[in-house]
Amino acid sequence: MSAPGWTELEGEMRARLTAASFNHSLRTGATAVRLAQIHGADERQAGIAGLVHDAARDLTDAQLLEQAEHFGLKIDPVEAGKPYLLHSAIGAKIVALELGIEDAAIVSAVAKHTFGDTYMNKLDRIVYLADVIEPGRACAGLDEIRRLAQINLDDAFKAAYKAQLISIIARGGYLHPRTLQVWNHIASEVNGDGGTI
Ligand SMILES: [Fe+2]
Ligand SMILES: [Fe+2]
Repeated sequence: MSAPGWTELEGEMRARLTAASFNHSLRTGATAVRLAQIHGADERQAGIAGLVHDAARDLTDAQLLEQAEHFGLKIDPVEAGKPYLLHSAIGAKIVALELGIEDAAIVSAVAKHTFGDTYMNKLDRIVYLADVIEPGRACAGLDEIRRLAQINLDDAFKAAYKAQLISIIARGGYLHPRTLQVWNHIASEVNGDGGTI
C-alpha cells in the first residue's frame, strides 16, 4: 500500500472531525511545517502528523471506550471515567490501521500529543508544540512560548508542557500520573536535581 497523500488525509480528517477540530488540525499541520523548517526536521512528516494528530478527537465517550477495546488498549480507571484522555492513543491506532500511515515516527507523534512522554524526539516535540501554539489557540503565556518556538525547540516544548500543567491545576483538573511522570522528567533535565523551574 502506498503512503496516503496530503489531499487524501485532509479528506479523512474533514470527514471525521467537526469544522472547529478540522480547522485546528489544518492550523496544527501548518504550524508543525513551520517549526520543522526552523528546527531542521522533515516538513512532510511534521505537516502530516499535525494534520492527523486529532483523528480521534471528536469520537463520543462511548465510541472512545469501544475503540479502546477494539484496539486492545489498556484503560486505567481515570481514562474509563474520562475517555477523552484516550483520544491520542486511539488516534495513533486509527492513523496507523485505518488511514494507512506506516511511518512509525508520525504514529509516535500522534500517540504522544496529549501527555507527552519521557522520551520525545524532535518530531514528537514539534507536533506537541504545534498543537499548543497554533494561531487559533489563546492561553496565558502563549506569546512567550511562541517566541521561544522560533528560537529553541527544547525550551519551547518545556514551556508549553509547563503551561499545560499549570492550566490543569488552575482549573482544579485531574493530573494524570503520566503527566506527573513526564513533568518530573522535564524538571530533572532542566535542573539536574528535580527541583522547580
Ligand atoms: Fe488532541
Ligand atoms: Fe489538537
